[in-house]
Amino acid sequence: MSVNSKIYEGKAKILYSTEDPEVLLADFKDDATAFNAQKRGSILGKGTINCSISAKLFQELSTQGIKTHFIDSPKPNQMRVKAVKIVPLEVVVRNIAAGSLCQQTGLPLGTVLKQPLVEFYYKSDELGDPLLTSDRLRLLELATAEQVETITHLALQINEFLRGFWERCGITLVDFKLEFGVDSQQQLLLADEISPDTCRLWDQAENDPNRRVMDKDRFRRDLGNVENAYQEVLQRVLKAVESK
Ligand code: C5P
Repeated sequence: MSVNSKIYEGKAKILYSTEDPEVLLADFKDDATAFNAQKRGSILGKGTINCSISAKLFQELSTQGIKTHFIDSPKPNQMRVKAVKIVPLEVVVRNIAAGSLCQQTGLPLGTVLKQPLVEFYYKSDELGDPLLTSDRLRLLELATAEQVETITHLALQINEFLRGFWERCGITLVDFKLEFGVDSQQQLLLADEISPDTCRLWDQAENDPNRRVMDKDRFRRDLGNVENAYQEVLQRVLKAVESK
């Protein structure tokens, strides 16, 4: 593989090869998609904002002993990451009912869950990322039983840490999505990104159900002020990291 060739283009990122076969360069895009790319648009500055937020969160998580694919950030919208084979699962952790959980169960928006809920979705654009039962997860052999157990444990540990972190930002962590990958040494690493694109984040200073939204739901639901909300999340993250 030649250096700097595009090896993958997703909805929010482009991955390039580097001189080191174990390292990739991830370019974060301003492009925004929702509802399995049926809705498309662009959020000005999103690439830089999401890359910066993700970089800080990966660094924070690594201080907690969570292994991630993050190496460093050579440019504001670029991240050097360890090359991994992505486990084709979208791991969603929920603290408060929102989004598809409300649509599929009838739970009212904002219901506080007695304990965090970990869900596995099959990462497949063609199939529309369906929710998996544990039997289907086993049937499809998308991950080993040991990986599923480790991922569940890590997802809960990450949730505990991130809840506290976002709390320090004056933000409630409603739910979020994680992806994991396996590197050349067969280590399971947290991959992809953690950003307002992949989390539901509610501003604790706002009670209004629309005004409190600081994440991609502003784009999904045409709530306006998307750029401002993302920028505000970044500013609060930077402040929380600095004031440790
Ligand atoms: O849509 P749903 O309610 O299942 O989303 C749960 C969480 O996972 C939300 O924070 C959403 O932003 C995130 N998610 C994601 N990528 C997907 C699906 C969901 O980041 N493909």
